[in-house]
Amino acid sequence: MRLYLKISLIVFLLLLSTSLVSADDDDRESDGDEIAEKMGTVAIVATVIGAAYVLLRRIFIGSKMYLDKEEHKEILKQIKFVYQKLRYPLLLVHYLTMIIATIAAAIHGYFLLADDLFVTIFGTISVLAMVILSISGIFIWRKFNPIWKYRESRTVLRYVHRQWLFSGIFIAGLLLHFAVE
Ligand code: HEM
Ligand code: HEM
Repeated sequence: MRLYLKISLIVFLLLLSTSLVSADDDDRESDGDEIAEKMGTVAIVATVIGAAYVLLRRIFIGSKMYLDKEEHKEILKQIKFVYQKLRYPLLLVHYLTMIIATIAAAIHGYFLLADDLFVTIFGTISVLAMVILSISGIFIWRKFNPIWKYRESRTVLRYVHRQWLFSGIFIAGLLLHFAVE
């Protein structure tokens, strides 16, 4: 629990520091718009931090798949060691940062809704994918009953979260959101 608190505090301070980075002096914009834009930046920073868990897991699984067991024995051992040490703390960071990212993106989107049609369409697609991922993730994390009791619902929730479909939609939507901005 103490580890959890420490991680929460570090993540919170990091996110706070990004949102306190000095405001650009754009007189045309209201303070509200500026805060809404900063929420978009908070969402991105939180997502990048939270993705460390996914990266760690992919490196671990990829190394087992592609490195020869005999030839790369030592490096495989080292990757496994790092993975076992970091997996749990990074998963906690993943929960926390991804929830923050989803909330920040939703606030950002809500206040900038009417600004530009295509930016709004692609941003909304991303936010919807984030909400689906966050809800399924929270269910996997907290194992809410009675839903978690049934094997079918566990399978669906894991499938929704771990298949790259929604993560792919989220990333594609985001890239287009920036491309048309
Ligand atoms: C309903 C969904 C969304 C809407 C309506 C929306 C709207 C906008 C608009 C209008 C801008 C341009 C602001 C400007 O004038 O410079 C913008 C920029 C931005 N958006 Fe979104 N957005 C949405 C979703 C997202 C999501 C899901 C993310 C990230 C996870 C995101 C991150 C950003 C960032 C980082 C910027 C640049 C901010 C800046 O220039 O400081 N947006 N968004
Ligand atoms: C935009 C938000 C999110 C994205 C893009 C995302 C993405 C992912 C991805 C790609 C994985 C699979 C890692 C792998 O096996 O390679 C994963 C795992 C996981 N995520 Fe998320 N996630 C998000 C939000 C959340 C939230 C909010 C929670 C919970 C609070 C969460 C909980 C989990 C859990 C528990 C796992 C491990 C699942 C398992 O091993 O069965 N995720 N996430």
